[in-house]
Amino acid sequence: MRNHNKRSIISLPILFFCIIANCQDLNHSFKPGQIWPDTQGKHINAHGGGIIYFNDTYYWFGEYRLTRLEKDKSRYGVSCYSSKDLLNWKNEGLALKVINDTASILNPGCVIERPKVIYNKKTGKFVMWFHHELKGQGYKAALTGVAVSNNITGPYKYIRSLRPNAGVWPLNFPEEYKKATVKDSDLKNGSDEWKLAVREGLFIRRDFEGGQMARDMTIFVDKDGKAYHVHAAEENMTLHFSELTDDYLDFTGRYIRVLPGESNEAPAIFFSKGRYFMFTSGTTGWKPNAARLAVANKIFGEWKSVGNPCRGTEDENKIAFGSQSTQILPVNGKKNAFIYMGDRWIPENLADSRHIWLPVEWENGNPVIKWYPNWNLSKLK
Ligand code: GAL
Repeated sequence: MRNHNKRSIISLPILFFCIIANCQDLNHSFKPGQIWPDTQGKHINAHGGGIIYFNDTYYWFGEYRLTRLEKDKSRYGVSCYSSKDLLNWKNEGLALKVINDTASILNPGCVIERPKVIYNKKTGKFVMWFHHELKGQGYKAALTGVAVSNNITGPYKYIRSLRPNAGVWPLNFPEEYKKATVKDSDLKNGSDEWKLAVREGLFIRRDFEGGQMARDMTIFVDKDGKAYHVHAAEENMTLHFSELTDDYLDFTGRYIRVLPGESNEAPAIFFSKGRYFMFTSGTTGWKPNAARLAVANKIFGEWKSVGNPCRGTEDENKIAFGSQSTQILPVNGKKNAFIYMGDRWIPENLADSRHIWLPVEWENGNPVIKWYPNWNLSKLK
């Protein structure tokens, strides 16, 4: 009896160690495309996401997608995870939840995509923008939503959703385009005449009164603290870069068209060595296509396409290693070190979509990405 007791006392610390070791089954490297367990062992459910670094911690916000077992649509929203090392993420719960009230347009059944959070130094508030589609309307509404919180992890208070820049022309929109009278219904969708008309502002004019469409989006905060809402507008044919007000809660009405008629979405912008870079994808829904890179000297400058930034096999380059960009993340404590964050969507089970994180490397001054099945931050010089 005594012996038995002794044995259990000795084994107790071992048992604790095992439990703790098991809970802290740490991730030691990035394994793009594989299940990425959070600190509770569950695949990170933060898709189309964005990360901000605040108080020595990274916070990852993303689409919380209901798993196959979850039927309760009121648990849908924006998830938040925190991490010190970018590899091990603690689930902080839902930062923004749909509102269980049919009177609200953020009700269960609506779509929330690509949420991005930024911190406003002037107001001390965290501001979340996201692509918002209305219940039962597919992707027709093309709205952007905004929510705010005093705490980084939330809960975020939903303010409103809107189509930006109603009643204002883009800064880089020629006078003659404003006066043109050609209509969408006059032209065969996809014909050369239609494409030309789109480049010359067909949809800008159509949406002038009610505001411009805002689907895939990101937020970029420039060195001077000015924030820009970048969104796929004009039926996903053209990106709009729209300046936000100083409190980041509204649009100033200053905006430009970027790469008109070139069908870019999934924008992800970063600044390095005096230049602005933007990764985008083409528009093939959940199916991956080739990534594209564009460069500019100023955020409201001339954006130039410079081709496909992927450096893999021909097949890998055609589908960006099976991913679609969501953010290019600056790594704290390293100079000019960035991570490409992309999504490998699994439309039948979006919660299971995989995270494709790859180190940004450089080739003749431009960022490129290569495939590494298993890598860590030492890859970023
Ligand atoms: C993609 C877009 C995703 C999602 C999807 C729906 O093109 O990047 O965020 O909207 O289409 O089909």
